[in-house]
Parts: sequence; structure tokens; C-alpha cells
Amino acid sequence: MKEGDMEFLTEIAQFEASVDMEKEYRIGWSWRHVRIWPATLSRLFKDGYLDNVFRSNSFTGYKLTEKAKALISTQKQETSTETQSVVPLNLSDDLFRDIIGHEDIKDLLKATLLAEKPVHVMLTGPPALAKTLFLWDIEQIFGKQAIWLVGSATSKAGLWDLVAEREPKILLIDEMDKMNAVDMAALLTMMEGGRLVRAKRGRELDINNPLKVIAASNRLEKLSPELRSRFAIRRLNPYNRSEFLTVVKGVLVSKEGLSDDLAEEIARKLDGRSQDVRDAIRIARLAPQVGVDKTISLLLGGEKNAN
Ligand SMILES: Nc1ncnc2c1ncn2[C@@H]1O[C@H](COP(=O)(O)OP(=O)(O)OP(=O)(O)O)[C@@H](O)[C@H]1O
Ligand SMILES: [Mg+2]
Repeated sequence: MKEGDMEFLTEIAQFEASVDMEKEYRIGWSWRHVRIWPATLSRLFKDGYLDNVFRSNSFTGYKLTEKAKALISTQKQETSTETQSVVPLNLSDDLFRDIIGHEDIKDLLKATLLAEKPVHVMLTGPPALAKTLFLWDIEQIFGKQAIWLVGSATSKAGLWDLVAEREPKILLIDEMDKMNAVDMAALLTMMEGGRLVRAKRGRELDINNPLKVIAASNRLEKLSPELRSRFAIRRLNPYNRSEFLTVVKGVLVSKEGLSDDLAEEIARKLDGRSQDVRDAIRIARLAPQVGVDKTISLLLGGEKNAN
């Protein structure tokens, strides 16, 4: 079992406990439900910790095996007999390992995660610069202590109630600029550890558990000045040529499973033609069918120097 797998299993167990596995999840849950990379899940499957209860082109449904459940329950007994001191957050070198470059952002985020009192950070900048990936990685280490929100799809219950109920340590908000006005207003108060005037009984936030917010957004214009003021706003700049080459090669090899040579070829041929890592990913996915050159011209059109 690889380091960290136990945490994955515990998270999955928590998920399974929170839903009706007999009814709603009869065909199992997918990586999207548990927010664990498909590659990790297939490893856990190979090792006998997951059952593959359903498989179609678009959906692979898993559930925990008895072997995994047994392991989790022994682990639980062990930890409950240990002294329950507050474990300081241990940021391993693995955190952000899948993100290439952006060293200063990594340092900034690690510092804020370790800080005792909250500093909120907003990552902003053009598409495909790994902003969402940063939030994702943070969610992986915080597990249940994190709440993940996408601004355009805030839950019906409302942000305030969600936070009051789950008492997360960290709130991760992607596409912050699309968040609705009510939630934005709640956020303003929360970020300063304030009280909501009209909070329902039992819905007050615990001021001893100050919340950190890490957000991502393409645009800042939609955000009110007072909200912007509550964040350390960190801009991610587009990759320069050599960064783009490194990132593309890295992503194509590690995430798309390409050989070094093919990744190198695609990165080199895209040089000067695209700044978008997602272009490279699309090319990598189509190239096996029609070849790299043809795919590039199909996707990006025409000649290298055409207007
Ligand atoms: N520095 C990087 N390291 C690893 N992967 C990267 C990097 N930059 C981009 N990518 C890859 O590019 C794709 C887009 O990344 P991501 O979704 O995090 O971008 P984003 O900044 O959130 O973009 P958007 O603003 O459009 O939401 C992902 O597949 C990601 O793996
Ligand atoms: Mg994103």
C-alpha cells in the first residue's frame, strides 16, 4: 500500500457512510464523487481495496471491498487509543508535486496553510495556468476539513449554512467571480470572523475556528472592492516559451500517459502556436488517430505563419 492510500480509503469510507449505497449508489460512485484521481482508484482496485461494480464507456462505479473496510476499522481503533492531541498540519513535500513550476505560489500557499491565523488568497489570471489544480491539491490534504465550491454552482442551502454546519478549516472556491450576491455577502462577513446578523439559531459560526479561504478566478472586475481587499490577490502570469514547453511535456507524460518523445514532439511543434496547455492535451488525445502534424492543423488550422 502506498503512502497516503489509507487517507484515500478513509475519505471514501466517509463518503460511503454519507450516502445511501444501497439505493442511490447501487452502481457505485465514480472518481468525481470522491474527488480522487482515476489512476489512484484503479491502483486501489488492483490492490483489492475497491470493487468495480459497474463499468460503461462513461462511468466506472466503485465501492469499498470488505478487505478495505476491515483495514479502516482496525486503523480507527489504533488512532482512537493514541492520545488525541491536535496533530499539526503536516505539509509533505508531496503537496503540489503534480504542479510544474509556480514555485512562489506554492510557497505562498504553504505558508498560508501553516499560518495560525487566516490569510486568504485568490489566484487569478488567464485560463489553463493550474489555478484549479492548486485548489484540488489543497482539498486532497484537508479532506473533510475542506469545503469545495464552484462559484457558478453554489448549493441551495447557501454558503453560510453550509459553513456553519460543516465547520471546515478551509474553503476552496473556484470560479469565484461567478458566485451569487448572497453568498458573496456571507463570505465578506466570514472572512473577517464576523457574525451574520440574521443567522438562524444554531447557525452561528464558531469564532474559535477561523476559516481560511483560497479562491480562484479568471476575472477580478466582478468582485466588489471590499471582497478584493480581504484577499491577497496573486496573479499567475501566462507561461513564457520555456515554461510552456516544460509544463506541456510534464502534463502529457504524467497525466496523458504519452512517451517522452511524443510529448516532446507535441510541445516543440506547439511552440509559438499556442499558449494553452489544454491545446496540447487535445492534441495528445487526437494524435494517435491521425498523427501530430495533422492534428495540429486540424485543431489550430492552416499554416504556421498564416494570419
Ligand atoms: N503548471 C502546471 N502543472 C501541471 N499541470 C498544469 C500546469 N499548468 C496547466 N496544467 C494543466 O492544464 C490543465 C488546466 O489546468 P487548470 O484547470 O488548473 O487551469 P485553470 O488555471 O484553473 O484554468 P481556468 O482559468 O480555465 O479554470 C490541467 O489539465 C492541468 O493539469
Ligand atoms: Mg479552473
